[in-house]
Amino acid sequence: MAAEITLRVDGREHRLPADPRTTLLDALRERLGNPSPKKGCDHGQCGACTVLADGRRVLSCLTLAVAAEGTEITTAKGLAENGELHPVQRAFIEHDAFQCGYCTPGQVCSAVGVLDELAKGWPSHVTAEVAASPTPSREEIAERMSGNLCRCGAYPGIVAAIEEAAG
Ligand code: FES
Ligand code: FES
Repeated sequence: MAAEITLRVDGREHRLPADPRTTLLDALRERLGNPSPKKGCDHGQCGACTVLADGRRVLSCLTLAVAAEGTEITTAKGLAENGELHPVQRAFIEHDAFQCGYCTPGQVCSAVGVLDELAKGWPSHVTAEVAASPTPSREEIAERMSGNLCRCGAYPGIVAAIEEAAG
């Protein structure tokens, strides 16, 4: 019998053939039929493929599926619970934080990761006082979201949505 890997995605376990060359992005989209993470550049430059691995954002185009075994993968699709959108998803809608929407699942996953980083007090390149907890300022949000590109230029709405979700 061919070897398999097991991936936990959005709370469900899946088995798939253990081709060591398969990226997490291709496993999610092509093998598991989850179109939520988007393939933009496919080499780590646009952020469209961002998902959460045990709550931390990762670029799924640069992650091998085998390396994701044993982690809880969450896509934007899996952020909603019991039919209720995640607060970040709601804020994106309220602030018109998307136009074509292609970058949006990656932006939303990244934003959830950013809020978690801020809550944990992790500093960024623009944190003035690294010993103090960083605040969700526009500057911090823009810096931390800088790996997620939006060709439509929905950045003002994206930053406003994250500011609101930060509370
Ligand atoms: S598709 Fe992964 S960073 Fe662009
Ligand atoms: S909304 Fe179109 S690329 Fe961002």
